[in-house]
Amino acid sequence: IPVEPFDYVVFGGTGDLAERKLLPALYHRQRAGQLTDPTRIIGASRTEMDDAAYRDYARTALEDHVAPADRDLDNIEEFLQRLHYVSIDARSERGWDQLQTLLAEGNERVRAFYLAVRPALFGDIATQIRDNGLITDKTRIVVEKPIGRDLGSAQKLNDVIGSVFAEEQIFRIDHYLGKETVQNLMALRFANALYEPLWNSAHIDHVQITVAESVGLEGRADYYDTAGALRDMVQNHMLQLLCLVAMEAPSSLEAESVRDEKLKVLRALKPVDSGNSDRVTVRGQYRAGASAGGAVKGYLDELETGVSDTETFVAIKAEVENWRWAGVPFYLRTGKRLAARMSEIVISFKPIPHSIFDDTAGRVIANQLVIRLQPDEGVKQWLMIKDPGPGGMRLRHVPLDMSFAGSFATRNPDAYERLLLDVVRSNQTLFMRRDEVEAAWRWVDPILAAWEENGDKVQGYTAGTWGPSHAIALIERDGRTWHESD
Ligand code: BG6
Repeated sequence: IPVEPFDYVVFGGTGDLAERKLLPALYHRQRAGQLTDPTRIIGASRTEMDDAAYRDYARTALEDHVAPADRDLDNIEEFLQRLHYVSIDARSERGWDQLQTLLAEGNERVRAFYLAVRPALFGDIATQIRDNGLITDKTRIVVEKPIGRDLGSAQKLNDVIGSVFAEEQIFRIDHYLGKETVQNLMALRFANALYEPLWNSAHIDHVQITVAESVGLEGRADYYDTAGALRDMVQNHMLQLLCLVAMEAPSSLEAESVRDEKLKVLRALKPVDSGNSDRVTVRGQYRAGASAGGAVKGYLDELETGVSDTETFVAIKAEVENWRWAGVPFYLRTGKRLAARMSEIVISFKPIPHSIFDDTAGRVIANQLVIRLQPDEGVKQWLMIKDPGPGGMRLRHVPLDMSFAGSFATRNPDAYERLLLDVVRSNQTLFMRRDEVEAAWRWVDPILAAWEENGDKVQGYTAGTWGPSHAIALIERDGRTWHESD
């Protein structure tokens, strides 16, 4: 379904995010026929260039980041004609007149400002937007993480943006929420009657959420070394996943209903502090090893300074303290340079209460629902069945297997494709509300403080493995093991 015409102004228009994600995502939506005339995309950054140069820049970005099968000349040309460029400085008057003139041509259109810049500039840009009279009734602003590095700095950022824009105009992106498989979590839970009655501590033993990456720093040392895995992945993506698994059924898919329920989960997280952090958290940092068949450097060797106590891996045993989840651990783990790129959620059901089978039948393994987020997206419900054949009752553990690639011929759109147009449609369901972001920091801050206070050092792990042995101990201590993907 086409969306109404819009002007998207991308600050940081020549940056990494624009090149790798935003321009390709908008191109895909052009190709899907969703962009209607006179939609424009306006790149804005300090670099001096004109529209023609920006179109060349975008052409290269599409060549590098869109699969050859999805590149067709007509759509590329049509898309490039939508692009404009303004050389602008957030901290001076340079370029703002030009932006004003350009936007004046489209005063009646939806107008979105995307801040793909460092957060230190959010305040300056928001103020310039206001002072230059660029806010119309149909204006929205989109911001990317990191939204702060702790509660205090997140509140400050939210305050500066909030002093110019109303909460309904602010779209805080967590790109995990735009992933098809993450949205599918809501479909699985709330479009099926099967699971919901079992979705609680009476039937679920524990939940595992793994977001494993095989990549290392990817040239982002400056940012990453000041953040670490807890801030980079847990505060946002992992907690959002946990919320979607643990929340009560919202009354509708409407933004406030969904976000109210997620917020309740964040507020119910059991605090981790210096009294329990060494039992429920593990910090790791990769050492030299092998990844994708080649030797790779250790984290410290990737840094100019060669010293750092930043974690590139974190595992946490989290608990949601409410009636539904009391006593059900949520084991979270995420890290760089792990054995594979693999994200999944595993719901482990309780074992059967009594077995009628004798030893010759084999062990009865508790049911597991494995939701594979990426790659090889799909859902597997593991069950016990009788091994076919005349050999008596032998049990076998098998999956009911729904692979997205095998079941659907459609391309799996990138998260940004959905999210960028949700901004135009003014649909905030898949964006984080201010109180959610702050509640997540409220849980994360004491963990950071506890690590500092207890002097918890990072545990080394070899690149290309599943993280430090302490992470294995974290779950095995409870008589459970990390799910091994097959
Ligand atoms: C980003 C993090 O938010 O998510 C990166 O800053 C991480 O460090 C990335 O690599 C992972 O996203 P995806 O979509 O590749 O799983």
